[in-house]
Amino acid sequence: MFYHVGLGALVAAALVEASYENNLAYSSPSRRHPSLAVPLAHVSKRQTGDLFTPDELNFTHGVASGDPESDSVILWTRLAPTSENVASDLVPKGVVPIYDEREGARPSSKAACVEFKIATDSRFCKVVDQGRAYTTSDVDYTVKFEANHLKPFTTYYYQFNVCGSKKTSPQGRTKTLPAKQQKVDKNVNLAVYSCSNYPVGYFNAYGGPVRKDSVDYVLHLGDYIYEYKSTSSIGRVPQPDREIYSLYDYRTRIATYRTDPDLSASHARFPWIPVWDDHEVANNAWKNGTQNSSGDVFRKRKQAAVRAYFEWMPIRQVEMDDSLRIWRSFSVGTLFDLMMLDTRQYDRDLTVLSGNVAEVEKLVDLQNRTVMGFKQEAWFYDQLKRSSRRGAAWRVVGNQIVFSRMAVGTLFSSPYNYDQWDGYLANRDRVYQTLVDNSINNTIMLAGDSHASWVSDLAWLGKKDYDEKTGAGAFGVELAGTAVSSNSPAGANITPSAANNASQVLISQNPELQWQDLYYRGYFEMSIGYDAITAKYFGTPDRRVRSSDEILLAQFLIKNGENRLARNPTVGGGQAKSGALKNGVVSP
Ligand SMILES: *[C@@H]1O[C@H](CO)[C@@H](O)[C@H](O)[C@H]1NC(C)=O
Ligand SMILES: *[C@@H]1O[C@H](CO)[C@@H](O)[C@H](O)[C@H]1NC(C)=O
Ligand SMILES: *[C@@H]1O[C@H](CO)[C@@H](O)[C@H](O)[C@H]1NC(C)=O
Ligand SMILES: *[C@@H]1O[C@H](CO)[C@@H](O)[C@H](O)[C@H]1NC(C)=O
Ligand SMILES: *[C@@H]1O[C@H](CO)[C@@H](O)[C@H](O)[C@H]1NC(C)=O
Ligand SMILES: *[C@@H]1O[C@H](CO)[C@@H](O)[C@H](O)[C@H]1NC(C)=O
Repeated sequence: MFYHVGLGALVAAALVEASYENNLAYSSPSRRHPSLAVPLAHVSKRQTGDLFTPDELNFTHGVASGDPESDSVILWTRLAPTSENVASDLVPKGVVPIYDEREGARPSSKAACVEFKIATDSRFCKVVDQGRAYTTSDVDYTVKFEANHLKPFTTYYYQFNVCGSKKTSPQGRTKTLPAKQQKVDKNVNLAVYSCSNYPVGYFNAYGGPVRKDSVDYVLHLGDYIYEYKSTSSIGRVPQPDREIYSLYDYRTRIATYRTDPDLSASHARFPWIPVWDDHEVANNAWKNGTQNSSGDVFRKRKQAAVRAYFEWMPIRQVEMDDSLRIWRSFSVGTLFDLMMLDTRQYDRDLTVLSGNVAEVEKLVDLQNRTVMGFKQEAWFYDQLKRSSRRGAAWRVVGNQIVFSRMAVGTLFSSPYNYDQWDGYLANRDRVYQTLVDNSINNTIMLAGDSHASWVSDLAWLGKKDYDEKTGAGAFGVELAGTAVSSNSPAGANITPSAANNASQVLISQNPELQWQDLYYRGYFEMSIGYDAITAKYFGTPDRRVRSSDEILLAQFLIKNGENRLARNPTVGGGQAKSGALKNGVVSP
């Protein structure tokens, strides 16, 4: 142990020893892969034994929790010397700090000692777990603990402090999942997000559920950050002010995003279950490149992006020998199983890049083409079958890209968007075939990525009859959500009238598409019960200012066993405030 002397005077006798191992950030994402993890021998050898003093440190980036289980949850914070806090106002103007390319931070021989506690009460009288760990420049001063000994479906409060000091982080609240075999006695509520682009808008959507205290858990379907160099008409220039490539870049970019007060509040209030899409690395990523990076540049870039993501996000490492794996599942009592997919970074075959649409168009039908990779496909089909066999009422699938077939000729230059599941037809057929072969009911696909809202029956068009009026023949429902702030695919400055007209064209050329909206930025909430799921789509009217305004745009009901959107008497109760609704009225 290196810190006995330094800590001796500070530490209350009863507390556990700090260690590097307790900080899961050192295995980001995998200890077994040298380029992706920090060898602890190397860290402890470099350390002089000195600790940063409490005065040198700050919890600038707040707290977060995530990947809840029925007895544990991941807790996150960042305890950095204020000189290393990369929020733009903390970097002296005109000074470009020299960073170690490999480590991505100014290497320091000092460590910070951090402790956490988690309790059933917000005054921390009933502490149920606590722990201590070190953090260093090697992991960008991030801290990830697994809190254990927790009870199912229970709310907890947690807080960090500098070891032996009164310097504390903001307080966080979190919640465990129900136990796998538990009958859940109330609805479970989720908020679902995607596509938060910092320079183009405030993250008002993240603030909604915090103000309403309306959900148990938050899902993020990816595009949590964007990699671009950006100008901003609202003064939100993300750091570093260039397109990002290195470890330093990705860490710094995520750090800027975390300064948004609504994002920070959502992380502190709710446990998150996120997956990445393309922009966590770069636009239109696939397994061998992105729109404009390939070869070694791409490999190094992806390595940096993946490592920074694992350091900064409150998620678990599912499989130590598969450093790119973030696809994982959660059992929420007997109510539902949540499968979080990676249709983007894991093992995806060629997607649409600049100027190759014709080439991709020729590939979309190939049987050996996959958007998930065959390893993940096998896992996914197995998860669907197991979930159905164990009798979980619903299967909720968190996925990046729109799953349903969508003729989008009016929005894109190609008839379909081949960057979505429409570019990977055999993979989609294999999903439907699994549902059919195993009579799997109550499947709800979720999607982000598109910056627009698409609510559809899951219809296997061209293979199985489907009646758009009644929904007969469908296999479930797809709920695809709009962006937190990213531009509408119909154009950043589209008017409501023009957007709704375009939505009208989209619903008329896609039988399974029941509601579509292009105008609003926002999010949706799901309230999941055994008998039914309701989905509420919220629009946030003005991304140029921080605001608590939100509009309930449309609301949908899905009844257990029906495998389609409920017609009450028509989809969405026949009413929406924006977009276009089949057999319904749209009025603001
Ligand atoms: C310290 O962190 C808090 C948030 O936890 C932030 O409000 C404050 O500005 C930070 N102070 C410094 C000096 O970085
Ligand atoms: C990469 O592509 C984006 C557009 O997607 C463009 O803005 C950016 O300048 C490109 N970067 C390089 C290095 O080519
Ligand atoms: C992947 O990229 C490398 C280097 O850019 C290239 O040599 C290889 O052919 C590519 N593989 C595929 C499947 O495109
Ligand atoms: C996929 O199948 C096509 C046509 O059968 C073939 O040309 C191609 O090489 C195959 N690709 C892979 C990766 O096996
Ligand atoms: C799915 O629903 C159908 C129709 O109610 C039923 O026949 C079938 O057994 C259900 N599948 C499972 C796995 O329970
Ligand atoms: C939308 O369609 C309506 C009805 O056809 C038309 O009156 C209106 O001008 C259109 N709006 C735009 C912006 O094109």
